[in-house]
Amino acid sequence: MTKDLQIQTTINFVKEQLEGAEGGHDWFHIERVYKNSKLIAKTEDVNLFVVELGALLHDIADSKFHDGDETVGPKVASKFLKTIDVDEETIQHVIKIIENISYKGGNFKATFSSPELNVVQDADRLDAIGAIGIARTFNYGGYKNRALYNPEIAPNLNMTKAAYKASNAPTINHFYEKLLLLKDKMNTETGKHIATQRHDFMIAFLDQFYAEWNGEK
Ligand code: ADP
Ligand code: NI
Repeated sequence: MTKDLQIQTTINFVKEQLEGAEGGHDWFHIERVYKNSKLIAKTEDVNLFVVELGALLHDIADSKFHDGDETVGPKVASKFLKTIDVDEETIQHVIKIIENISYKGGNFKATFSSPELNVVQDADRLDAIGAIGIARTFNYGGYKNRALYNPEIAPNLNMTKAAYKASNAPTINHFYEKLLLLKDKMNTETGKHIATQRHDFMIAFLDQFYAEWNGEK
């Protein structure tokens, strides 16, 4: 099988797997991350095949939707990649990307790094901020039946990985607990550049939100 066909087969597989997924973690999220990964990769020295497969498979079985089990995604991806004869070295790298891409609270220290992970992680983080990031966050909050905002519940900036994953806080808190922190965590120059503009848009959104909340606008 050519690499082009392996990519196309992976696209079809991911579309199938994510049918019925929550709106912020559906095929279109993957497509945006895939496109942004390719854009960022243009100015990085990376193995593009690994980047593309990593982007396509990074949320194939998100632990949030599998009772917290972080081993399902890597297993599903590796089993699939074997069926389309991807070489073992590439499979291992893609699995590392899936295992390490996710944000696990501010205090979590990663153990694996690679330029390919850096690219896919930046693309995934870009999709968490800006206008799309805002839309995804409120969609996820609705999916979890969370309050939009509650002035009496302050954001928690010092969560462990377990606390971050178990958090039931109002959706606005997620901006302070994660989204506004992402700009300074970008790995690549292209990523940082795009993140700055998206970050400013979220700040403007929050200003307007509080003004409307308080009857000032
Ligand atoms: P990551 O894998 O980087 O941690 P997630 O899959 O947890 O990313 O989150 C992706 C997006 O889902 C977030 O950027 C946000 O839009 C939404 N989301 C995840 N957790 C929450 C939450 N606790 N409250 C609101 N939105 C959330
Ligand atoms: Ni993602």
